[in-house]
Amino acid sequence: MPNFFALIPAAGSGSRMGDKLPKQYLSLAGKPMIYHALRRLCHSPRISCVFVVIASGDGEWLRYDWSEFSGKLVVLECGGETRAESVLNGLKASQGISSIGDDDWVLVHDAARPCLSEKQLDKLMDELAEDGVGGLLAVPVADTLKRSDTHGRVEHTESRENLWQAQTPQMFRYKLLREALSGVGGVTMTDDAGAIEALGLRPKLVLSDARNLKVTYPQDLALAELILGNP
Ligand code: CTP
Ligand code: MG
Repeated sequence: MPNFFALIPAAGSGSRMGDKLPKQYLSLAGKPMIYHALRRLCHSPRISCVFVVIASGDGEWLRYDWSEFSGKLVVLECGGETRAESVLNGLKASQGISSIGDDDWVLVHDAARPCLSEKQLDKLMDELAEDGVGGLLAVPVADTLKRSDTHGRVEHTESRENLWQAQTPQMFRYKLLREALSGVGGVTMTDDAGAIEALGLRPKLVLSDARNLKVTYPQDLALAELILGNP
């Protein structure tokens, strides 16, 4: 039986947040933001080990006490220039220091998604455990979509039929994900599924909901706190 591992890329700078502190360390419900994603993954009895990829020279990580996760948490100081590079570096580094094998599942989850529920996490693992490709949590697009011209005027309305917003975790087998991210199509992708798609495979969309939001802009912080306070 393949085991489940988790990997949290946390080597970004949070440029759209506009704070000098990288957003994964901004205070959210009394903890650094990344704490919430870490806690959710570390508390899952089905996940054997959680890797966190931080930027090299990250001076912030060591300012907090992570001992409640010891035994499950492994920190890898090998962040890259892009998210894809951080994930790939983390996958490579994890091999030498854990029992991770080619067919084991890796759940890649953004540090910037603090509101993932236990139910969403379990649903992802349940729906994909027997899958040949793997997949991701996602939500059907609810808003009407407009395509703009270069002057900020509507060129046309896009159909939202069959359009989904990708979330994380995204769950793929170790070897396949590593190969996908190493390929030419992989490095440019903003998510892991994109790299798998570039190999011609079709990741499965597992229905999630908007509560698993990504904190990108300052105004997302208050919403995330509200969701965390009302599980
Ligand atoms: N990430 C990473 N390495 C990078 C870039 C991003 O590990 N070189 C991580 C972020 O820390 C975050 C996740 O990937 O947990 C999703 O990225 P995003 O929300 O875009 O975060 P940032 O890149 O930090 O923010 P921004 O794009 O606004 O700069
Ligand atoms: Mg980014």
